[in-house]
Amino acid sequence: MRLQTLSIHTGVDKDSAFNSVTTPIYPSSTFYFEDVGKTKGYDYSRTANPTRTALQENLAALEGGVGAIAVATGMAAITTVLHLLKTGDHIICTNDCYGGTERILRTYRELHGLQVTYVNMAKLDAVRAAIQPNTKALWIETPSNPLLNIIDIRALSDIAHQHNALAIVDNTFLSPYNQRPFELGADVIVHSTTKYLNGHSDVVGGAAIAAKQEIAERLQWLCNALGQGASPFDCWLVLRGVKTLVPRMRLHEENANAVAQFLAQHPNVARVYYPGLPAHPNHDLARRQQYGFGGMVSFEVDGGIAEVNHVLRSVKIFAVAESLGGVESLISHSVSMTHASMDPKLRADAGINERLLRLSVGLEDVNDLLEDLDRALSFKSVIAQTAAKSEAS
Ligand SMILES: Cc1ncc(COP(=O)(O)O)c(C=O)c1O
Repeated sequence: MRLQTLSIHTGVDKDSAFNSVTTPIYPSSTFYFEDVGKTKGYDYSRTANPTRTALQENLAALEGGVGAIAVATGMAAITTVLHLLKTGDHIICTNDCYGGTERILRTYRELHGLQVTYVNMAKLDAVRAAIQPNTKALWIETPSNPLLNIIDIRALSDIAHQHNALAIVDNTFLSPYNQRPFELGADVIVHSTTKYLNGHSDVVGGAAIAAKQEIAERLQWLCNALGQGASPFDCWLVLRGVKTLVPRMRLHEENANAVAQFLAQHPNVARVYYPGLPAHPNHDLARRQQYGFGGMVSFEVDGGIAEVNHVLRSVKIFAVAESLGGVESLISHSVSMTHASMDPKLRADAGINERLLRLSVGLEDVNDLLEDLDRALSFKSVIAQTAAKSEAS
């Protein structure tokens, strides 16, 4: 079956009692034994739950993995995956990773002696140079957040494997519709299902998917031991969202492409970051390793913080909010919002400045989105009008 069919059908035919076509929600915390030592496969919902199993089967199929865990948040997925490492192990992480990833890596460095090196992973030689005898994993996030840099998953996976390390890919920004890291050699995929997989801004969730049985089993074990499993209700919502992943992703990209082109020619925009634009420095790599360019667009306002704040206060359809991947369009200011907790030096080194705004382009009519941005970006005329008014008075 192809992705669109898999997204609708995998894991859902669970109701042998009444033949419902959607997956039932099993809120039960515990399951009674049929006989001493005999269950129907479930005994306690922290360990396993039928609704969660349905989602896990679905996500494993979409990514082409052998097993998955569905957990409470994207951070829970990252945390669980980091437990594949132990004290003294070394991990190399992309230098413009999600702020929460940097925060948990910093915490694990302090608490558990995990060694962490940040590298600009576009520079493969720098990655090779950072390898140590105790390097156990490469943490790859592509496209990066919020600058949408693309790094080469296949080349990085090869480097990881030459040194017996794991290639772990955060695939949140593209979803398996647009990027399938296992086809490029990755070992583990992480998702915040809060974003495109659920797609409706009504759940926080996460998942980790493994390419090999041994890692899938270890993740299941960790998920139970750490108590990370997602609730049956949340799993059901994500499972419902996933069914429309393919048509949603197509429209996200169509709208994002139009928004990126519009911003690229706008006089009050200094720079646009969208891998679908031929001018994007990693456009060719994106074409090669992705099935599409996704729905995220970042841009720098041609002005200072006053102009940035003007844009944020003026948008009417784009909601000023964190997160991404929902049907509604969002705008965020990375320095004061998603990346506020990131080490300021790392943030500056990664090129995240105060003029940068990130858009999660939703599924509204694209003309409404363009008009909204155009109005918000007309700050020079607003400033000129205000000056003219004060002169006149
Ligand atoms: C790329 C990426 N990974 C992981 C996360 C964490 O996900 P969650 O907020 O569901 O914990 C986020 C959240 O924004 C993200 O953008």
